[in-house]
Amino acid sequence: MDKLSLCDVEVRGLRIMVRADFNVPLTAGPTDTFVVADDTRIRAALPTIQALTSAGAKVILLSHLGRPKGTPEPRYSLAPVAAHLGMLLKSGARFFPENTGPAVEAEIRGMQGGDVLLLENTRFHAGETKNDPELARQWAALADVFVNDAFGTAHRAHASNVGIACCMSRSVAGLLLARELEYLIGALANPASPFVAILGGAKVSDKIGVIQNLEDRVDSILIGGAMSYTFLKALGLPVGASLVQNDWLDFALETYNRGKIVLPTDHVTAGRFGPESNAEYTGVSIAARQLGLDIGPDTRNLYRQHILKAKTVIWNGPMGVFENPAFAAGTVAVAEALADATDSGSTTIVGGGDSVAAVHQANCADRVTHVSTGGGAMLACLEGKELPGLSALTDRPA
Ligand code: 3PG
Repeated sequence: MDKLSLCDVEVRGLRIMVRADFNVPLTAGPTDTFVVADDTRIRAALPTIQALTSAGAKVILLSHLGRPKGTPEPRYSLAPVAAHLGMLLKSGARFFPENTGPAVEAEIRGMQGGDVLLLENTRFHAGETKNDPELARQWAALADVFVNDAFGTAHRAHASNVGIACCMSRSVAGLLLARELEYLIGALANPASPFVAILGGAKVSDKIGVIQNLEDRVDSILIGGAMSYTFLKALGLPVGASLVQNDWLDFALETYNRGKIVLPTDHVTAGRFGPESNAEYTGVSIAARQLGLDIGPDTRNLYRQHILKAKTVIWNGPMGVFENPAFAAGTVAVAEALADATDSGSTTIVGGGDSVAAVHQANCADRVTHVSTGGGAMLACLEGKELPGLSALTDRPA
């Protein structure tokens, strides 16, 4: 990496501002409170926080949560995250219900080496998402060194990741950010082959940039989820009442004809989608009024064979309507195939909410090489786009 990282700075006794991505799901707790429903992103931030506390730094954490409209909204407070983080750290984490101003400055003056302080949601200021320089300057003035560890936000140019980095003389990558880039940029730049990508989800239009950037690098792209029906319809196959993006049929056909795309050969369908839907099985053609909702058993087997032969696998997006157990088998089968490929020495990388949930559901999260904490940020990497949150960090001297 051509940017400074945590290993390049001496931090003892210094105030270190860490931008983490604590944008985690919350659920109702006791008496009008919220608790963390999934702490994956909080756990992923622990190595950087613990490296800093054990080196005697004063750790000040900034994060966003949800999409408040630039003013404080209690349901987006980071207070439940601080409580959860404190429990994971065992030594506790303090929460401060503001993130700028004299009270915050006084709180930071009272910190000792090894202390951890989480400030309130950055998006309670309208200037955050506008990358307001004055807001960035106020945050920069609170610390001596800036550490960006928020990979999930690296595709955004906001005041708490890009603005602040530009205001500070030392802005470095945290351990999580460095690990994500090692896999998501490193795997693409130098993949062991065969290299297989698996793309799922509802819309072809969401994955165009990814397909275009990956096409020349991979040996094959396995397609699942509703986006497969746009490809199948483009080939002239009957897809019944399945979701299709008619505006993207030409793109789908041209892409298919270039030879890297692999499509489902059978499907799990239903007459309508809902909790009571009865799963039916069909070959490649879907009958009128039937909806394709998952890949079928032959496709699961076909995709498994591709995955097991690969030396590098990247997966983003579910194979079906994964949240309904009747249509989850395809996504779970891909998760299991990735885990088996990893056991045989392949590098396997998973990202995106449903795919990550599937590797957890299939008890495979510890058996894949890298589970990304990024949604949009992972897609930006796969599209080959520059990440503003990374570009803003201090260059490593030549
Ligand atoms: C994410 O959840 O992908 C990141 O935290 C970014 O959130 P945003 O899409 O609201 O910017």
